Amino acid sequence: MRIDIITCVPKLLESPFSHSILLRAYQKGLAEVVVHDLREYSVNKHKQVDDYAFGGGAGMVLMIEPIAACIRNLQSQRTYDEIIYMTPDGEQFSQGMANQLSMQKNLMILCGHYKGVDERVRQQFITKEISIGDYVLSGGELAAAVVADAVIRLIPNVLSDETSALTDSFQDHLLAPPVYTRPAVFEGMEVPEVLLSGHEAKIDDWRFQQAQQRTKQRRPDIWEKHWKG
Ligand code: ADE
Repeated sequence: MRIDIITCVPKLLESPFSHSILLRAYQKGLAEVVVHDLREYSVNKHKQVDDYAFGGGAGMVLMIEPIAACIRNLQSQRTYDEIIYMTPDGEQFSQGMANQLSMQKNLMILCGHYKGVDERVRQQFITKEISIGDYVLSGGELAAAVVADAVIRLIPNVLSDETSALTDSFQDHLLAPPVYTRPAVFEGMEVPEVLLSGHEAKIDDWRFQQAQQRTKQRRPDIWEKHWKG
């Protein structure tokens, strides 16, 4: 998979893809993230990418010309399955959406900044609008990193143990059960005995019970929707 991210603050995206699982995904040739600086597509010599909003009001708006130039340049090189705009008024991001996106080949993600982008960008180019939650970030960059991370780790063979993505919270409408590692006793606090028993079926059963209990207590909304009745 290839993910192209368009931003006017590329420095914000320098680190997230250079470590750990996402770095390994890149090294294994499974996922590549390419960050594009919107300023390089500015149509004037001041490298301007934003301007005052027509009609007045506080805050700058990202201009359509540099965005159109950048998107068209990328589109001339490959076909994109989705051109995503990160925005708090988009569709709420979920594990289900991450699963769907992980099956695509080429994604483009546009990050908003300041007051957002000229509405005509959304009408003309964007195929999907995503919010990562009901709060406002200073720009779409951190949100884009969240989406890219959640998607890339689901690509087959990115995680060394294939089953570990399948047992994530939300994957089966259940929160993940508690996990423990050595030591078996810490300051008198013991690991549940069943986990030390080596009895696989009993351990699976315990984990399922715990996952259900956790979901019921912490996310009654998920419990009601998928498990009740
Ligand atoms: N840009 C600013 N806030 C955002 C949010 N909550 N989700 C996605 N993009 C954003």
